[in-house]
Amino acid sequence: MSAPILSLSGVTKSYPRGGMLGSLFGAREPVLALDDVSLDVMAGDVVGIVGESGSGKSTLAQLAVGLTRPTAGTIRLGGEDLGLLMRDHAGPWRRRIQMAFQDSSSALNPRKSVGRCLDETLALAGVDRAARTGEAAALLGRVGLGAEMLPRLPHELSGGQRQRVGLARALAMKPDVLIADEPVSALDVSLQAQVINLLGRLTGELGLTLLFISHDLALVRALCRRVIVMRKGRIVEEGPCLQVLEAPRHDYTRLLLSAVPKGIEGRRRPPDRTSNPEFPRP
Ligand SMILES: Nc1ncnc2c1ncn2[C@@H]1O[C@H](COP(=O)(O)OP(=O)(O)OP(=O)(O)O)[C@@H](O)[C@H]1O
Ligand SMILES: [Mg+2]
Repeated sequence: MSAPILSLSGVTKSYPRGGMLGSLFGAREPVLALDDVSLDVMAGDVVGIVGESGSGKSTLAQLAVGLTRPTAGTIRLGGEDLGLLMRDHAGPWRRRIQMAFQDSSSALNPRKSVGRCLDETLALAGVDRAARTGEAAALLGRVGLGAEMLPRLPHELSGGQRQRVGLARALAMKPDVLIADEPVSALDVSLQAQVINLLGRLTGELGLTLLFISHDLALVRALCRRVIVMRKGRIVEEGPCLQVLEAPRHDYTRLLLSAVPKGIEGRRRPPDRTSNPEFPRP
């Protein structure tokens, strides 16, 4: 059997409650954002990560890309210790795992135009100068944006546009592993579908390994082969996506599924006012 591309073993992350001030003023229990999590992701896996707000999904993502260090446990990328890889800034692995952030407004430098941001990222990825402008426009096209976005600054974009620029930048690195933290939450349903289709294509055609964090179980079901259910910093259930979502074994997964509003399957269509008694004709 081949080795996992990303592997977490007994990973715990705790934060002092109330940040630095909290730790100064009282020795209260720290927040256990991640509690002894072990997880293997194989190359080409498309893994959905679901769970209530505060369950540790973003923390797991930040640890996996090396933005923060675990309090305990080890994380391996391509079989190598992430802590050691991150010390070596030139290490290719730094580029091979990318994250598209939940909060795209803080992820983009407010003083850099979209074009400059993509250009710098493409330069880091080794694309030569002559090819970069064309490639930046092509990346924007992939996420449903036009080349007219290139001169714009982040504050001149809508939330959904910023989110897609963040995704384009992550893709510019041509990563092996992409961690997408709520990458479509600010998009309307047609753009959501477009980005989900793009991610589906990238995983299918290029063998991109994807960790897809979402509150939207319908999107997870459409995109992912495997799903992980998190609660209070722990993985409470995992397995093939359809199996977990159709026949959950854990009470919490059932609760999460039952919390999906009725009729969500049909929410991509506008309400049918002619046949649905809940939407009578005006
Ligand atoms: N930098 C931090 N300092 C202190 N506590 C933090 C920090 N980051 C996260 N936490 C806490 O860790 C827990 C897990 O947070 P995390 O952001 O991973 O949740 P999440 O599952 O991504 O939630 P959401 O669905 O709302 O994005 C929460 O209780 C959160 O308050
Ligand atoms: Mg989060």
